[in-house]
Amino acid sequence: VSAVAKDNDDQPVSALDSIVKSGVFKVGLDPGYMPFEMRDKKGELIGFDIDLAKDMAKSMGVKLEIVTTAWDGIIPALLTGKFDLIMGGMTVTQLRNLRVNFADPYIVVGQTIIINKKVADKVKSYKDLNDPKYTVCAKLGTTGDIAISKYMPNAKHRQYETEAEGMMEVVNGRVDAFVYDLPPNAIFASKHKERVVHLEEPFTFEPLAFAVRRGDYDFVNWINNYLQQIKGDGKYQVIYNKWFES
Ligand code: ARG
Repeated sequence: VSAVAKDNDDQPVSALDSIVKSGVFKVGLDPGYMPFEMRDKKGELIGFDIDLAKDMAKSMGVKLEIVTTAWDGIIPALLTGKFDLIMGGMTVTQLRNLRVNFADPYIVVGQTIIINKKVADKVKSYKDLNDPKYTVCAKLGTTGDIAISKYMPNAKHRQYETEAEGMMEVVNGRVDAFVYDLPPNAIFASKHKERVVHLEEPFTFEPLAFAVRRGDYDFVNWINNYLQQIKGDGKYQVIYNKWFES
């Protein structure tokens, strides 16, 4: 397995070697994070990350295989060699960076909040939610989950396995607020305007980047040069415009 493979000098082998050798580029991601990775009506995976993954595989001249993985276990899955790269809009955090290497950020976002309309008069920012009378939720293991503990320690804190569950709890009023990255929150709120309000001013700074196993600088180098190429030749902008409103 590539995760533990060593060459003769006992140096870890780059994922690039196993990708080229096997002819397959395996990407790990967790669908449901709009518009980066989600399923269309036929159940096919679509989104910003999916288009980038397809283009990366094409640029390497190999086939793409997507491995869907729960967010909570996505770093261990990378480290045990289930796939070569994490592509799920992962925020570069200093704690995660102790366990994986990140390529350069491909986009920057921040946490925003969806609240139920019934609290919209009183809640104008995360500061107002830092109160035991409010219940605030997030997807397990996300930076939204971390932000609740850090910025709203006095609120009641709930965690859900999927973002869809957390968002629906706010729609049906069982939970007051859901904390998540701006892009999925903006898309969800625009579809549920009658029940929720989006506090759309980000209150954190979050560069998103692709993650590889620690020490794999060859792969980091390949990704950074790939990103520079598509940002320079206009391909990145074309893919971006397909998935994000300008
Ligand atoms: N940016 C956030 C984080 O790093 C959320 C990413 C969630 N991604 C996903 N594919 N569900 O925790």
